[in-house]
Amino acid sequence: MAIIAPSLLSANFLQLQHDCDMLNLSPAQWYHLDVMDGSFVPNISFGPMFVQFFKQATTKVLDVHLMILQPERYIQDFATAGANNITIHYEACTHLHRTLQQIKAAGCKAGIAINPHTPVHLLTDVIHEAQLVCIMSVNPGFGGQAFIPNTYHKIKQLKALITAANATTLIQVDGGVTLENASLLLQAGADVLVAGNAIFKATNPTQTIAQFCAL
Ligand code: DX5
Ligand code: ZN
Repeated sequence: MAIIAPSLLSANFLQLQHDCDMLNLSPAQWYHLDVMDGSFVPNISFGPMFVQFFKQATTKVLDVHLMILQPERYIQDFATAGANNITIHYEACTHLHRTLQQIKAAGCKAGIAINPHTPVHLLTDVIHEAQLVCIMSVNPGFGGQAFIPNTYHKIKQLKALITAANATTLIQVDGGVTLENASLLLQAGADVLVAGNAIFKATNPTQTIAQFCAL
């Protein structure tokens, strides 16, 4: 069954308690929390303090997506704040292998995100160290962007790489995921779907999550 990870970036920050209550009652398994530094991506969102608040609001998995340069500087802070998964960008790490080790040593699951221009085969030598790979299906930085169709191809390539390596890495897709493209993404091999606008801008978010989970 697919894991659904609503992205809180698209929530209404004036009614976060309401949105957390809604998510907690829903079958969505993860909270997806997008951290942006204004350097790696053109947008700025929030830091460890917010993750700590979400930790108090839920017992669900906190899936922290770091869109920041030199993420090694903040791994311990996010782990202490309550992150369960920490995903770092391939493009933002000089010593990716070391930083993945650092995440695991801090007690979290380690994930690698790749931008739309980054080929899947670059992960060959590090796939065993990653418990999750996030394929960005938009250029990171903002919610509500259009899905990039080449993602299907990348999911299949990644699935083949994981199988060949006999690894158990989860495949996550992030950006422009909707009820319309979700089935094809799952068929291609995705395990975790992140959805921001498709859930929080829906007329009935609860029903939309249930529809995602029923796919
Ligand atoms: C984009 C973020 C995504 C974003 C997804 O940079 O990493 O998690 O919130 O939002 P939607 O689903 O609206 O594209
Ligand atoms: Zn994200």
